[in-house]
Amino acid sequence: MGGPGRRRIVVSATAAEAAETAAGLIARLLAAAAAARGRARLALAGGRTPEACYRLLAEEPHRGRIPWEALEVFWGDERCVPPEAPESNYRMAAQALLDRVPIPPGGVHRMRGELPPEAAAREYEEGLRRAFPGSGGPPRLDLLLLGLGPDAHTASLFPGTAALRERERWVAAARVEPLGWRLTLTPPMLNAAREVLFLVAGADKAEAVRAVLEGSRDPDRYPGQLVEPPDGRVTWLLDGPAASRLAATTAKG
Ligand code: 6PG
Repeated sequence: MGGPGRRRIVVSATAAEAAETAAGLIARLLAAAAAARGRARLALAGGRTPEACYRLLAEEPHRGRIPWEALEVFWGDERCVPPEAPESNYRMAAQALLDRVPIPPGGVHRMRGELPPEAAAREYEEGLRRAFPGSGGPPRLDLLLLGLGPDAHTASLFPGTAALRERERWVAAARVEPLGWRLTLTPPMLNAAREVLFLVAGADKAEAVRAVLEGSRDPDRYPGQLVEPPDGRVTWLLDGPAASRLAATTAKG
């Protein structure tokens, strides 16, 4: 899990407080990226947990601190469904955030879940190559948001699946029983990020959080352990219940 200096754990009492802490940190990191490199490239997580945080980003005080004109938005993963489907990660982010803020045209890079999975994965990887010209290896996102499932999956890297072992491609199509087909960034792409934020809330995640952060090393069983960017920092933003099985003392959010 990388060196201690490259990982920090911040625990807030409630999911709402964790969402607020996350929104503040995201705003700061995006502003710093834009100041340093003229652009801020962000990959969004899907699922339910980040929605409250996305809503906060569209509202003051965070809204005014984010350089929307410099922002490019990507996804860490997507369900293979049309964008208007209730399960779509794009749909959730659009309703909570993207439709409410002034991101320039072309700044939102949606994974096209409505395509055949392999074609969608190939198309997204080509899109990354265009968005990050000159990247020899996996391009470096400024900020990657991730969640964690109760089975310790992250993005759509699920235990025991082939995408966990992908070391060349940047985007993979994964058939995940019984959920269906998913698109996911692969470990090389996740680990090229400069900053990674896991936002995890709820007692149902406590064992997965413990296993990933303090359990024996077994990334095939606990895919969250794969996220260890050699040149990046990983921040875990947890609520009390999700952190409840951690032994280590942690900073307060
Ligand atoms: C997805 C997400 C996935 C999510 C976890 C946690 O497409 O579902 O990208 O990796 O982060 O499954 O989901 P919840 O936040 O809904 O618990």
